[in-house]
Amino acid sequence: MRHRIGVIAGDGIGPEVVAEALKVVAASGVDLDVVDHDLGARRFLATGEVLPDAELEALRCHDAILLGAVGEPRVAPGVLERGLLLRLRFALDLYVNLRPSLVPPLDLVVVRENTEGVYAGEGGALRKGTPHEVATQGSVNTRMGVERCVRFAFQLAATRPRRHLTLVHKTNVLSFAGDLWQRTFDEVAAEHPDVATAYVHVDAACIHLVEAPERFDVIVTDNLFGDILTDLAGALAGGIGMAASANLNPARTGPSLFEPVHGSAPDLVGTGRANPVAAVRSAAMMLEFLGETDAAARITKAVADPVGLTGSTSEIGDTIAGRV
Ligand code: IPM
Ligand code: MN
Repeated sequence: MRHRIGVIAGDGIGPEVVAEALKVVAASGVDLDVVDHDLGARRFLATGEVLPDAELEALRCHDAILLGAVGEPRVAPGVLERGLLLRLRFALDLYVNLRPSLVPPLDLVVVRENTEGVYAGEGGALRKGTPHEVATQGSVNTRMGVERCVRFAFQLAATRPRRHLTLVHKTNVLSFAGDLWQRTFDEVAAEHPDVATAYVHVDAACIHLVEAPERFDVIVTDNLFGDILTDLAGALAGGIGMAASANLNPARTGPSLFEPVHGSAPDLVGTGRANPVAAVRSAAMMLEFLGETDAAARITKAVADPVGLTGSTSEIGDTIAGRV
């Protein structure tokens, strides 16, 4: 079965790592129909367009989307983040951001809520530029949004050998949002007697991640905590060049989006020093979600042993392709 994949290679090292990911997928024997979408800083600087509606509708028609990285220094912070990345997450209802860290001693998966929290964009500024300036940025947490994310996390934890799920939040201070998360978590837990549960405050979770990561199996957390925790977990698990992510629409009402956690690293462009492993792993997560479990497993296995994954971007891609 051929899969129709929208590719947003993007800027900086994005196209370099995506090329290696597609090379590895081809070597795995899976057939992809690839449709390129010219989005990111290059398009924005040339045309002023970030994500035209027609492009969004075209992206909606794919089986999945593979994204390299977007952004470069000439584009103001927030333009592509809000206008492209977050718009895609919200418009395609990619409500779970799944981020595994599978490099010993870490063997954990973070289920990050991906459509709410402070990312929702609630808030504003008053009296801007005056001494009385006010800025608010609210955290939006809906029962529906929290529950569907928590349910996904329990279902995932139930499939893993340890069957353990930790809620990470800051319930001691964020008493409204934390209360909604904790109650929802406890209610869904009652439906999953097979899954052991724990709760850890986000600050303590940072300590545990560094000192005792074996405490964790699956973590479920809100959007911003998940953003920060997965950078930390990525740094601990071989560096951000290894960290993959899946922005999932588990209801499958549209395509899911797969992307490395790292950015466009403009300083590395053309040097051959970009690590394609995160993009390759993201492509493996894409194949897994598309039901190509065998190819996904072979790719995941091929990158599990970092020994030998050295050399330039394309040499690493060749080595992985040879292993699958
Ligand atoms: C990530 C990134 C994004 C986020 C930014 C670029 C909007 O840091 O995917 O983790 O904060 O989610
Ligand atoms: Mn991030």
